[in-house]
Amino acid sequence: MYNFSQTPLYDIELILSQELQNKKAKECISFVVLNPDMASSTYNGTIVTLNSLKYIYHGYKTWMDLAHILQCKMLTPKLQDDYFVTIKYEKLGEDSFHAINAHKEEKYGTNSIFSQIHKNEEAGFLHYFMQALHNVKIDSRIKILNLGINSGDEFELIEKISENFNTLELTGVDYCASAISLAKEKFKNRTNITLLEADINRLNELNLEKFDLIISIGTLQSSNLEYNRLLMSLVQNQLKKNGAMILGWPNCRWIDGEMVYGAKMKNYTFNEMSNLYKDINFAKKYLQQKKFRVTITGKDYIFVTATSIRKE
Ligand SMILES: C[S@@+](CC[C@H](N)C(=O)[O-])C[C@H]1O[C@@H](n2cnc3c(N)ncnc32)[C@H](O)[C@@H]1O
Repeated sequence: MYNFSQTPLYDIELILSQELQNKKAKECISFVVLNPDMASSTYNGTIVTLNSLKYIYHGYKTWMDLAHILQCKMLTPKLQDDYFVTIKYEKLGEDSFHAINAHKEEKYGTNSIFSQIHKNEEAGFLHYFMQALHNVKIDSRIKILNLGINSGDEFELIEKISENFNTLELTGVDYCASAISLAKEKFKNRTNITLLEADINRLNELNLEKFDLIISIGTLQSSNLEYNRLLMSLVQNQLKKNGAMILGWPNCRWIDGEMVYGAKMKNYTFNEMSNLYKDINFAKKYLQQKKFRVTITGKDYIFVTATSIRKE
């Protein structure tokens, strides 16, 4: 087993990535490091002296980050003694959340791996989405539209944090029949929630009224939607003059049970965020031009939150 208690991170990453090349999914690799609890108020790389020997301090965040960078899950560290712990990484499999061979409408349906994801239980999503909901003063937004609602996770959270949920009127749209039917089952006792199985490309056919808040998470970048045109049309035709928007983009991948930081584009073997930044920048510029106050927040999901400064 490697002992990395005196090894700089540069060498650690090099050694582990080489070792992991020869491992299959679910195989593990273990190494000993300085117990991070040994020191507090200490930055990574600080030299810690123990019995006249020098060790390099690294905290658990670095070990967690490195695990994901190397496409691994970090297992529970084992204490060797007060000064050292053994870290164990398990190599992740290669799954993707798209249902294999599914029609485009069922790519995110109840039979897909996507349906096993619970975003509201991911700190890197939950905290920033709640912050966005607070920033738009969710309780003052009566008519709410969610595009790409899937099975309704976003409404479940609004239900939790809203102080006057019964007075809200929520509409969710998705063209995935199985997800919409699961959402209908979840909210069957809620008369203020309307769930529509429909194509966002044909939103105008639904004759919806204008909304106080439009939310869309992980949806507008879908290849079947024309993002720029859709965003402009939503602002012009579906949003009240003094309305608000929360748009969310994944800056992560879902791999074998883990939410791994960093968006990935086709034909790249590493994280590449050009598309993400391009879309976010377009939303920010367009919404500012239309007199919205815009913030960009988040981590594993990036949120563009816009509140109008126009008067109705
Ligand atoms: C990645 S999922 C995101 C779902 C949910 N907002 C979330 O973040 O968990 C994208 C959703 O958008 C839906 N979708 C994609 N294109 C659509 C379209 N043209 N019309 C309606 N729904 C669409 C998919 O069926 C899917 O449920």
